[in-house]
Amino acid sequence: MGVTARSCDDRPCSISASGLAISFDGSRVLEEVGLCVRRGSIVSLLGPNGCGKTTLLKILGKLLKPDGGAVFINGKNLERTGLAELSRTIGSVAQSHRPSFPFTVRDVVLTGRMPYVSALAVPGRADVEKANETLASLGIAHLADKPYTKTSGGEKQLVMIARALAQEPAVLLLDEPTTYLDLKNQVGVLGIIARLSQENGITVLMTLHDPNQAFIYSDEVILMKKVEPASSGTFDADGGDLCSESVIAAGSPATVLTPENVKKAYGIDVEIIDHGGRKIIVPVA
Ligand SMILES: Nc1ncnc2c1ncn2[C@@H]1O[C@H](COP(=O)(O)OP(=O)(O)O)[C@@H](O)[C@H]1O
Ligand SMILES: [Mg+2]
Repeated sequence: MGVTARSCDDRPCSISASGLAISFDGSRVLEEVGLCVRRGSIVSLLGPNGCGKTTLLKILGKLLKPDGGAVFINGKNLERTGLAELSRTIGSVAQSHRPSFPFTVRDVVLTGRMPYVSALAVPGRADVEKANETLASLGIAHLADKPYTKTSGGEKQLVMIARALAQEPAVLLLDEPTTYLDLKNQVGVLGIIARLSQENGITVLMTLHDPNQAFIYSDEVILMKKVEPASSGTFDADGGDLCSESVIAAGSPATVLTPENVKKAYGIDVEIIDHGGRKIIVPVA
């Protein structure tokens, strides 16, 4: 199994983390998060709103510093990874990106080449070719000269993925890549992510809202819940409140997305239906 709830020993993990914890304004948001994402796999991060999925992705992308714990990307401690190396290793697509300046789509994608452009230089012909190639691989070459601000929601999502891919990263972190997209675009974007991972061996960790999409598109799932005080009046060795851990279960979609685990995460009853070998989660009315 490529994902564990705690640590990943010495298996070939692209992303591994152990003991991650973070608080905001005195409230614990992540507690004891450990994970191991196998190289080249697609892993979905699921859990209710506010359980810390975005926060976890930010920590893994070195945009936030955890209060405790460690992250390793391809075996290297994130703390000791400089910005230039980091941006050649990890491509991130944030949840919302609404720049108001009318750069063309190609120029937006070219900003993904900056890790390869030396200081004070401008992107060269090879970078432009890489940007064009990436747009073509996502089926949006025809948008290259269009202002980014005039593209649709689905197109914007693909442009942002193209920008991250132009970085030629080993790891893609995607925060809700399907939110705001219609069904066709959701399936389109997830299909492209799956193809890219398969063809280029890119490791993908993405947050999703729909467990049914996680069943179809991920090799493994990490299911999270909101951290709660374990029981009032209990304290850890440092005198802090003891909290329940963030990760409920991690592993193959079928082993993680059980009615019991879904209830723990979301507090609702669901049934898992087998439809010609494909599993579907349905809330019990
Ligand atoms: N920079 C911040 N300052 C204060 N609170 C934050 C900050 N970022 C996130 N939070 C809080 O942390 C919790 C988890 O947020 P988030 O990671 O966005 O959850 P999710 O992505 O699972 O919906 C929320 O309660 C949110 O309000
Ligand atoms: Mg989020």
